[in-house]
Amino acid sequence: MDFSIKTIDGKSTTAQVKTGCIAVGVFENKKLTEAAQALNHKGDITAAVKSGDITGKPGSTLLIRGIDGVAAERILLVGLGKDQSIGSKDFLTATQAAARVFASLGAGDAVVALPFDQIKERDADWALCSSVLALRDNLYRFDRMKSKDEPLPAGVKKVAFAVPASTADAAKAAVAQGVAQANGMELTKDLGNLPPNICTPTYLANTAKKLAKEYRLGVEVLDRKQLQALKMGSFLGVTNGSEEPPKFIVLKHMGGKAKDAPIVLVGKGITFDSGGISLKPGAGMDEMKYDMCGAASVLGTFRAIAELKLKLNVIGVIPTCENMPSGRATKPGDIFTSMSGQTIEVLNTDAEGRLILCDALTYVERFKPAAVVDIATLTGACVTALGHHNSGLFSRHDAEHDALAEELLAAGKKSNDTAWRMPIEDSYQEQLKSNFADIANIGGPPGGSITAACFLERFTRKYTWAHLDIAGTAWKSGPAKGATGRPVPLLTTFLIDRAAPSRK
Ligand code: BES
Ligand code: MN
Ligand code: ZN
Repeated sequence: MDFSIKTIDGKSTTAQVKTGCIAVGVFENKKLTEAAQALNHKGDITAAVKSGDITGKPGSTLLIRGIDGVAAERILLVGLGKDQSIGSKDFLTATQAAARVFASLGAGDAVVALPFDQIKERDADWALCSSVLALRDNLYRFDRMKSKDEPLPAGVKKVAFAVPASTADAAKAAVAQGVAQANGMELTKDLGNLPPNICTPTYLANTAKKLAKEYRLGVEVLDRKQLQALKMGSFLGVTNGSEEPPKFIVLKHMGGKAKDAPIVLVGKGITFDSGGISLKPGAGMDEMKYDMCGAASVLGTFRAIAELKLKLNVIGVIPTCENMPSGRATKPGDIFTSMSGQTIEVLNTDAEGRLILCDALTYVERFKPAAVVDIATLTGACVTALGHHNSGLFSRHDAEHDALAEELLAAGKKSNDTAWRMPIEDSYQEQLKSNFADIANIGGPPGGSITAACFLERFTRKYTWAHLDIAGTAWKSGPAKGATGRPVPLLTTFLIDRAAPSRK
């Protein structure tokens, strides 16, 4: 989909816009937005609204054709809710509804003339960026594994956003930000949805190399021998049962000053989690191809920030392998020495995410990071705790970590990709006691997402760190099965705001 900005000044011009469809807003109390009023000189819009054909509720739409004195072939009325100051959720619902109408319209282009600058607690940049994301999300399909191309639906291919000329430059930048984010999310969704026989650790490494080539990023891919030399005993233990070789990916976007400490993103990249010898039950096991969604979100975020040429130093680190059973697989009771020197008793081979992440978290000490955020489909317990709406956010509880957590929570709210903070406390650490090693890899059923975070915490004491458990948010199950692209919006927004703290 192609996006542009159309400048409109003065009430009369909306009526003169030549386009297949112009989208304007109406409210529940039957009031019209300014742009809608400008199309109403013969009273056609008022008549349509009065007839009751559209309620004005967020999500309601009404398409009308051939209005006298209006250059656009169609008018799409879009319900915006109660009144002039539009709630941000209502605005998102409205743009999603408009996106669905556009997708099956007989017109190739459209102009969206909604009151972007009248959203409660948000600015026009937010509204434009969110609109781009809604339009792109509605178009997303994953059909590359089907043998026959499904016929493309007709529908709008070009969208222009109508804004006053004085704000055109800011609007262009906001649209570019939306497009970059949508491109990043698309990569994240594609990688998640690809089958695990194609999206292997090698495939993820090649994707990183391709990104690096396209956007001139630094990239390094370490193989088994190099991981042995680094003494990543915990990560390597997880790879014991599989034929597919493990990879350790390091991506660098150095858009900031050379001396600025980088933000490091670490993504869990289990391309298939069978559970290993602690085998998972069969039902729904296919969904464990999504166990690399943390890694995919790091790659998607890199695509977005590279496209935006973000002025910030960001390093992405992805430990990636499969978790498989075999005669050589890790057994419950095995003890490994992690790169940090801490020994780990593997009581359950299905708690493998923390085993690959802990070595990556030790590895990143070398970057002297400003902050480290790891992203992982880490625990089923997080889904039990928070459902599918919020990612779990974990961070130590001191001033420095509270500040980082607040930044991440705010970025999540702003980008409609929310997280909820969970506790990390020493009292939970006791559940990780091992009789035979420094630490066990499971803490029993109580507070499973918290003890997983507490495990990671032991490897992050040299820097400021936060952990996002995305087990409930990275993909959808059921008839709408598919990757969501989360938390790319949260991460991208966090980094954008870090690069320009004044524009929060
Ligand atoms: N990848 C899973 C977590 C998961 C499970 C995410 C279901 C989404 C849906 C992780 O590796 C895992 O298996 N965790 C175990 C930990 C347990 C053995 C302590 C879990 O959550 O059951
Ligand atoms: Mn597992
Ligand atoms: Zn897993």
